[in-house]
Parts: sequence; C-alpha cells; structure tokens
Amino acid sequence: MTKKTLLSGIQPSGKAHIGNYFGLMKRMVEFQDEYNCYFFIADYHSLNTIKDKEILKQNIIDIVLDYCAIGFDPQKSVIFKQSDVSEHTELAWIFDTITTMPYLMRAHAYKDAEAKNKEIGVGLFNYPMLMAADILLYDTELVPTGKDQQQHVEIARDTADKFNNTYGTTFVLPQSKIIEELAVVPGVDGRKMSKSYGNTIPLFASPEEIKKAVMSIVTDSKGVDEPKNPEEDNVFKLHKLFLEEGKLQELRQRYEKGGLGHKESKDMLISEIEAFIAPLREKRKQLEGDTDYVLDILREGGKRAKQKAEKKMEAVREAIGVKLY
Ligand code: ADP
Ligand code: TRP
Repeated sequence: MTKKTLLSGIQPSGKAHIGNYFGLMKRMVEFQDEYNCYFFIADYHSLNTIKDKEILKQNIIDIVLDYCAIGFDPQKSVIFKQSDVSEHTELAWIFDTITTMPYLMRAHAYKDAEAKNKEIGVGLFNYPMLMAADILLYDTELVPTGKDQQQHVEIARDTADKFNNTYGTTFVLPQSKIIEELAVVPGVDGRKMSKSYGNTIPLFASPEEIKKAVMSIVTDSKGVDEPKNPEEDNVFKLHKLFLEEGKLQELRQRYEKGGLGHKESKDMLISEIEAFIAPLREKRKQLEGDTDYVLDILREGGKRAKQKAEKKMEAVREAIGVKLY
C-alpha cells in the first residue's frame, strides 16, 4: 500500500521545550515510519516576527539540530527549509489572486491581532496563503496540527478547491490530522508551558538548568506530612510524562497518604528529567560539532523538495494559462 503524504512546517522561533516535545515533536518522529513525510522550516513565515538576521540563522540551525537529535531521519523524510524552494512564495501569489480580503479577515490569527489593536503587517494578513502553498505544492493529504492551526489547514483546503473549480483539478485536498491533546504540559508557574510565558524547561537543558527550573515550580504550602492531591500538583503533572504507570501509581499513593514533601518530589523529578534529556543532549552535542552535516541535510532535502514543487508549479502555470513553451 502506498503511504499517505504528510507535511508539517515549523517556525524557527527559539528554544524547544519539553511541552513542544511531548505535544508535537515526539509524534512527528513516529510519523516517519507510517507516512511519506515532508518537514520544513518555515523561515519565510517567521520573517513576520524575526527581523534580526543572526538570530534567524541561529534559530534555523538550532531547529535542525533539535529535530535530528530527537530522531528525525533524512533518509526517511524530506527535511528542508522553505526559502530553498521559491515555488512556495510564487504559488502564494497565485492564491492571492483567487482569494478575497473578507475571507482572510475571518482568520483567527488576523482577528486576534486586530482585537489587540496590533499593527497588522501584510505578511501576517497573507500568512494563510503562504501556508496553503506550503501544503498544496506537495500533494499533501495530512497535516498534523494542534487545534490552533486547524483553521489554516481548512483555508488551504478551501483554496485548493477554489483553484480546482476555477482552473481544473490540480491540487489534492488536504486534511488536518488532529493530534489528540495529551494533557497540556504545564510550565513551572502552572500555566501552559510556552516560550511566550517564559515558564519552560528547555528540551536540551543542562543539569543546572533542569535543577533551577524544577526548583522554581510553584506548589502549595502544605507541609511534608500533609496528604496532597496529586492531580492539583504541578510537579506531579510533570512526573506523569516520565514515569511508567506502576511507578506513577506508587507515587500517587504517597501523595495521598502524606509524608512526601514537595522537595523530595522535586528531587525525584530532576532525576527523571535528567535521565530523559541526557542522551538527547549528548546526541545534539555530537551534531553541533558537525555543522556541515546539518547543512547538507538541508541542502539535499531542499533539492528533493524542489523537484516535486517544480513539477507542481508547471502544472499550475499550464492550468492558469501562462505556460507558452
Ligand atoms: P510556544 O507556545 O512555546 O511558542 P508553539 O506555539 O511554537 O509553542 O508550539 C509548537 C507545538 O508544540 C504546537 O504543536 C503545540 O501544540 C505544541 N505545544 C506547545 N506548548 C505545549 C504544551 N505546553 N503542552 C503540549 N503541547 C505544546
Ligand atoms: N503556521 C504553523 C505554525 O505557526 C507553521 C506552518 C507554516 C505550517 N506552514 C505550514 C504547519 C504548513 C503545517 C503546514 O506553527
């Protein structure tokens, strides 16, 4: 049976954290065996927010290192960066010409920015068109997304449909593959772990960073002997990510019985996180020492992606009537 094509884009927006890992990155690694995968770094998308060239360069390299360290395999998947395949921006323009402003004004990202009275760049307004091009160039059937990106995939689908109706069938209609919500990983302050809240435990944290982050997790003020409700404890919520069911059950009982202090629970969590992160950190360090290898992955992936995208663009040019020779 031929594998379905799955595509995802990742904005190079800063240090990955364990929320990103358990929410999305881990799943992406697993998809590689089941699907024909395209993963790209959405560097042109991130121009809407990053205006510093050194930061952008570093973020791009970091994200490739992060994903390779957790098990992305360039033999199995096409890993590339958007700016290496100019067909993305070219196709986005063509989509602009079949899309209306009121339609794009319904996008959540635009509405949120407007509600906050932010100055809205044309790039942000147009973001869903570039994202539609990202998806449709590769005959993508599935786009793994959290709820936040679902509307963007629907816009891509609508756009494919509109193009097909206007010019004849050219694009496959993509679908969201909703990643069932695991419990949202809490940050050290108990809110959702997020770069924008500054409450993260970085995925490649050093032992000192792990310790510092865990020690700063907000807990209630119950004494050692008092029984505690594990489900309301931010430390316990993180144990859940690392402990297997039997051990977790034991810990749950210790919480409920009393006698387990926050300090002891935090010390245990530090060991669990360290055991989980150590091999990833090691792998990433090895890769960091070989930047050429990382750049080759992007270069080669870019070539493979470009071949596919070029073919699709030829079909588009033919369909719209600009292909004369
Ligand atoms: P951030 O909020 O740190 O900027 P992003 O919005 O870049 O994170 O999220 C990238 C991916 O990681 C998304 O698919 C999102 O669902 C997932 N993710 C982010 N934070 C968490 C979290 N705290 N728990 C579970 N998944 C998360
Ligand atoms: N919009 C996505 C995000 O902010 C990134 C992205 C760009 C993307 N193009 C894509 C995701 C295409 C999936 C498919 O996270």
